[in-house]
Amino acid sequence: MNFDPRTFRDTLGLFVTGVTVITTRDAAGEPVGITANSFNSVSLDPPLVLWSVGLKALSLSAFSTATAYAVHILRDDQAELSQRFAKSGTDKFHGLPVESGLHDVPLLQDCAARLECLPYAQHAAGDHTLFIAEVHRFISDSNAMPLVYHGGRYAELADKPVTS
Ligand SMILES: Cc1cc2nc3c(=O)[nH]c(=O)nc-3n(C[C@H](O)[C@H](O)[C@H](O)COP(=O)(O)O)c2cc1C
Repeated sequence: MNFDPRTFRDTLGLFVTGVTVITTRDAAGEPVGITANSFNSVSLDPPLVLWSVGLKALSLSAFSTATAYAVHILRDDQAELSQRFAKSGTDKFHGLPVESGLHDVPLLQDCAARLECLPYAQHAAGDHTLFIAEVHRFISDSNAMPLVYHGGRYAELADKPVTS
């Protein structure tokens, strides 16, 4: 294919997303997490969601062998948490209160929503691995405003009045 990767990336950045932090444990039982905006819904019955992890991510092997995941949909005041989990090779959980979920998956607190999932399928997809997971438990805060990501930047959601 003969197109410019930078322009392609910028073009995809026009698609607005929320931001998630997805956690799991590695084979040694250490907590692992990654910021991901590739998250999306897939199916209601069974309840399935998906996200993709880059082949260069240090946490990829942990995600590949995981027995459970937790997807945290971030609130609009959690850009710092997003940045923390987007930095490779750091102790991302340092000082964070963590609870234990399904299969001891690390749960972060105070997000807009939290989905506890079990693995459903994995697919190689170019320079990423696609993860599909089945949601077994979830909580949400219906009053929370979500963190928004657009064009490589964090943004805020605003209502758009429609005149009919
Ligand atoms: C808003 C945002 C969204 C991101 N989405 C993804 C994603 O969907 N998949 C991915 O592999 N990396 C994504 N990243 C980059 C990872 O969070 C980053 O590469 C992280 O350092 C990987 O950590 P690790 O090497 O410790 O696994 C995103 C980063 C940001 C800031």
